[in-house]
Amino acid sequence: MEGKRAYNRGHVLVLPYPTQGHINPLLQVAKRLAFKGLKTTLVTTLSSWRSMYTESISVDVQTISDGYDDGGFLKAESIEAYLNRFKEVGSQTLAELIKKQKSSGHPVDCLVYDSFLPWALDVAKSFGLVGAPFFTQSCAVENIYYHVHQGLLTVPMTETTAASLPGLPPLDIMDMPSFISVSGSYPSYFAMVVNQFSNLETTDWILVNTFQELEVEEVDWMTRRWPLLRTIGPTIPSMYMDKRVTYDMDYGLNLFKSDGSACLNWLNKRAAGSVVYVSFGSLAALEVEQMEELGWGLRRTNSHFLWVVRSSEVDKLPNKFIEETSDKGLIVAWSPQLEVLAHQAVGCFVTHCGWNSTLEAVSLGVPMVGIPQWTDQPTNAKYVEDVWEVGLRARPGEKGIVCREEVERCVREIMEGERGEQIRKNAIKWRNLAKEAMDEGGSSDKNLDEFVAKLVFK
Ligand code: UDX
Repeated sequence: MEGKRAYNRGHVLVLPYPTQGHINPLLQVAKRLAFKGLKTTLVTTLSSWRSMYTESISVDVQTISDGYDDGGFLKAESIEAYLNRFKEVGSQTLAELIKKQKSSGHPVDCLVYDSFLPWALDVAKSFGLVGAPFFTQSCAVENIYYHVHQGLLTVPMTETTAASLPGLPPLDIMDMPSFISVSGSYPSYFAMVVNQFSNLETTDWILVNTFQELEVEEVDWMTRRWPLLRTIGPTIPSMYMDKRVTYDMDYGLNLFKSDGSACLNWLNKRAAGSVVYVSFGSLAALEVEQMEELGWGLRRTNSHFLWVVRSSEVDKLPNKFIEETSDKGLIVAWSPQLEVLAHQAVGCFVTHCGWNSTLEAVSLGVPMVGIPQWTDQPTNAKYVEDVWEVGLRARPGEKGIVCREEVERCVREIMEGERGEQIRKNAIKWRNLAKEAMDEGGSSDKNLDEFVAKLVFK
C-alpha cells in the first residue's frame, strides 16, 4: 500500500497478543500507520502465522517465537506455562528480530505492543526504541483493572450493590469483568490484565482502541492519570471508517477459514433489516444447554438468522437443529464479520460483546442483543444497554443460562418493538460519531497524526 507520503525514519514494529481479537485491531493500527507514511511491520508468533488464512495484507509481516512453534497455546500444559514461556522466548526472539532489522538496513524506531505483553517494553527500551502499549479493550474496562492494580478495588467483589469508581457509571457486580465478579476465575489471565499497568510509567505513549466521544468521562479520567494516553479507535478496516482511505474491506489475517461467499450470497436474498446475525467471537465456549436455548430462541423469533458456530462448538447444536431450521437459518463456521454487519439485510446482532464485535457494531450502526460470556464482555454489555443505548442485554435465568424466551423477547424488541426504534436511532448517531473520529481531523485521526509526527520529527 502506498502511504500519503513516505518518511525516511519511523520504522514501527506492531506486536499483537496472538488471538483473533487482538490481531485484528493491531493489524489495523499497522495499516493506518503505513497509510500515514511509516514503514510498519506486523510481528506475529510463528505458531499463529502458520495457522492463518491470509488474504492480501498491505504491511510486512515478521515472526517471533512463543516457545510453541507447532501449535502455540494449544500445546502448552497451562495458561500460566504458555504466558511464562511466551515472555521468555518472545523477549529473546523479539530482540533478535530488532537486531536483524538493523543489519538489513531497516532499523526499528518504535514498538507498538499489545498491553497484554508488558515485557515487550523492556525489549524496546533495551534498544532505545519508543515504546507504546496498545490497549485492545475499552477505557472503562481498563479503568476497572487499574483500580485493581492499585489495590483500590477488592477482588472478588462480594456485594451485589453498585461499585462507585471515578470516571465510571455505577456498576453492579454483574457488570464487572468476569475476573472480578467470579471468584478464582482464570487467575493467570486475571494477573495478565492487571499486569498491563506494571511498567506504564516508562512508556512513551498509551494507545487505546476506543474513541473520545464514545467514552468521554472514562477517557478523561484515564488521561488525567496518564497524560500520554491517546484514543485511536475504532480500529476497523478503512473503507468502513474514513472517506479518504478505502484500501481494505476486511482485516486480512484469519485464524479461522471464512465461509464468506456463502454468507453474502445468502444475505443478498434477504430483505433490508430482516436478519439476525449471531456470533460469539473467536474464543467463547457456550454450555451445551445455552446453545440449545439460543438455537430454539432464534427459531422462535421467526426472523432469518445467520449464526457463526465455530467447528469446536458445532457438536453442541441441538439434535436436528440445522435440518429443522433450514428455511430460516444459515449456520457457518466463520464469517467475514465486517461485511456481514455492513450488509443492509442485517437488523440485529446477537453477540457475546467482545470489545471488537461491540466496536464494530457501534461503528456500523447495528443494534445488539448482548449475551456476555466472560472477561470484559459483561462490562461492554452494560454500556451497550445503559450508556450508549444501542442494544439490550439478555438476562440469564436459573443456572446462569439465557433461556429461549429471553432470546426471543430481546430480538423481537429490537426488530419490532418501540424500544428497538429508539435503539436504531441511537445506533446511527454512534455510527456517525465513530466515522467522524476516524475521518481526517477527527479525534482519533488527530491523535494518530500526533503519534506519527513525534516519531518522525523528534
Ligand atoms: C477476545 C475477548 O473475548 C474480547 O472481549 C476482547 O476484548 C478481545 O479478545 P473475541 O472473544 O474473539 O476476543 O471477540 P471480539 O473482541 O469480538 O473479536 C473477534 C473478532 O473476530 C472481531 O474482529 C470479529 O469481526 C472477528 N470475527 C468474529 C470474524 O471475522 N468472523 C466471525 O465469524 C466472528
